[in-house]
Amino acid sequence: KTFRIAAVPADGVGREVVAAGREVLDALASAGDFAFDWAEFDWGCDYYQRTGRMMAEDGLDQLKAFDAVYFGAVGWPSVPDHVSLWGLRLAVCQGFDQWANVRPVRFLPGVTSPLRKADHVPLDWVVVRENSEGEYAGLGGRNLAARGPGSEVAVQSSLFTEAGCERIIRYAFELAATRERKHVTSVTKSNAQQFGMVLWDDVFRRVAAEYPHVDSDSCLVDAMAARFVLRPEELSVVVASNLHADILSDLGSALAGSLGLAASANLNPERRFPSMFEPVHGSAPDIAGQGIANPIGAIGSAALMLDHLGLPDEAARLERAIEATTAAGVLPRDLGGTASTKEIALAVIDSLG
Ligand code: NAI
Ligand code: MG
Repeated sequence: KTFRIAAVPADGVGREVVAAGREVLDALASAGDFAFDWAEFDWGCDYYQRTGRMMAEDGLDQLKAFDAVYFGAVGWPSVPDHVSLWGLRLAVCQGFDQWANVRPVRFLPGVTSPLRKADHVPLDWVVVRENSEGEYAGLGGRNLAARGPGSEVAVQSSLFTEAGCERIIRYAFELAATRERKHVTSVTKSNAQQFGMVLWDDVFRRVAAEYPHVDSDSCLVDAMAARFVLRPEELSVVVASNLHADILSDLGSALAGSLGLAASANLNPERRFPSMFEPVHGSAPDIAGQGIANPIGAIGSAALMLDHLGLPDEAARLERAIEATTAAGVLPRDLGGTASTKEIALAVIDSLG
């Protein structure tokens, strides 16, 4: 079988890590009975400089025909970040109703975690992020006609719908039911945000009652940040709103060793539209162009894509190859090693077995 994949490397290290991930995927395919038919799109901040748009006007129509989108990262100092993010990454996530953003956090062998006890504690959780509404619903505006300096007011509202809360919470319970530790922790700030997040809590209690074999608890986001650091071994599936899960998943990946390690899937679970697979990190302008970016987040995202394409054995093979690579001490700069982006990709390919 041939899978049609749209590669959108976009900006900065996104280009470097997507190139590395593509090499690994092609190596995997050449040894298997499937193939990837790639189309690469040059959308991103350079494209914006040329055209005034982050992606083609009919970009979503162009992507619709693909089995999946393999994404790098958006953002470059030449374009305001809210323009680049909304113009490309959020346009795809929201346009294709990729309402579940799944972000696994795992402790890899050979990687030193800032958590002292991490050598003994197997970190293994999944952050499930609501990816279609919440704080990133894009509702609000600025009072640009404000009278005089210092008088402007801006409103940024969150949107929580019962249906939106229910589908992501249910997704989290279904996922937890497949894991060894059948536990879901819901994260809100419903003491201070008394409308949307209280609705979320109500829906969470209702859905939890339908899953008697999955344990659950609720935690306020500030306490959760501390719990990530102090008692990470308690966690299995963590479900949270768009903003909270965004922050917690960066914290989680840093605790596992580096932001460069973290993989993610933006899923349209109904499969009406393609899903998108991307590392959690951004375009890292501070290290872009040097060939030293950590590609493990992007390669792990490729494994999530294989799983989504119906190749779970290949996904597991790729996960094992990543573990063998870090266990052998082939580590990028951000993990204290010296290996380049390309060297890590080659080491993963060598470890595919
Ligand atoms: P960032 O994730 O790009 O970088 C944060 C820090 O982590 C930097 O020190 C960077 O060098 C390091 N880092 C990130 N990825 C790495 C990798 N693969 N290997 C080694 N080190 C890595 O976040 P930052 O600096 O806040 O944002 C930079 C740009 O990326 C901005 O334009 C922002 O809007 C955009 N961004 C895009 C995202 C996306 O496309 N999904 C997500 C987050 C930020
Ligand atoms: Mg983020």
